Amino acid sequence: MSDVSLPSPSEARTAAVIPAAGRGVRLGPGAPKALRALNGTPMLIHAVRAMAASRAVSLVVVVAPPDGTAEVKTLLDAHALPERTDFVVVPGGDSRQESVKYGLDALPPGFDIVLVHDAARPLVPVDTVDAVIEAVRDGAPAVVPAVPLADTVKEVEPAALAGQSEPVVATPERARLRAVQTPQGFDRATLLRAHESVTEDVTDDASMVEQLGVPVVVVPGHEEAFKVTRPLDLVLAEAVLARRRLNDGF
Ligand code: C5P
Repeated sequence: MSDVSLPSPSEARTAAVIPAAGRGVRLGPGAPKALRALNGTPMLIHAVRAMAASRAVSLVVVVAPPDGTAEVKTLLDAHALPERTDFVVVPGGDSRQESVKYGLDALPPGFDIVLVHDAARPLVPVDTVDAVIEAVRDGAPAVVPAVPLADTVKEVEPAALAGQSEPVVATPERARLRAVQTPQGFDRATLLRAHESVTEDVTDDASMVEQLGVPVVVVPGHEEAFKVTRPLDLVLAEAVLARRRLNDGF
């Protein structure tokens, strides 16, 4: 009999891949979105710290803008991060999907659970990160944090030109809809298979797993895990940080 045994699910090691190679055009002109500052610290550093805050995460793979890899390495060296967490920086691709794939390619063996987390969601609380990891450890191959919607959503026939009116096609029942956040958590083999077999454009990783016919489950997300996309989101993110500082002070 061999002494070597497979890790039990509770011992499975977790890595986080952070796609951070987007330009962030909707945020207006300036540096790539992930490198823009929130309260003086680059958004990417907030996002890396949010992943490293989970004691389960022992490796963070940052997928940097292809022309900014050296700058991102310098940034990571310059900011204090937990000692238990290792970091790797790789250059990204033309789409988010491609960037995530490059991040997965850089994962060493031994990490059986993989989180994929947008650099553009710098403020996700550690409890949300841990809840996602826990659900994967409990046996779910794919887990997404999500929140109910405030707005009613219409499906439309998109207009050819911006500003034109658009016919409504359908109104899905709001109570059955969820806005999906990150980190999304996966059994590594399932996520790799999804990235190898799904080629059409998607906006999140879980939808690739859905296309394999593998079940995806939702756990409660958090309002502070919102995606920084437009200029107003920067104002909101700084307000959240200010509120945290106040709460930490008392
Ligand atoms: O564009 P969007 O806001 O959906 O981007 C989500 C995340 O994917 C961001 O963190 C962004 O930096 C990343 N991304 C990437 N490579 C691309 C495009 C987006 O890593 N080519």
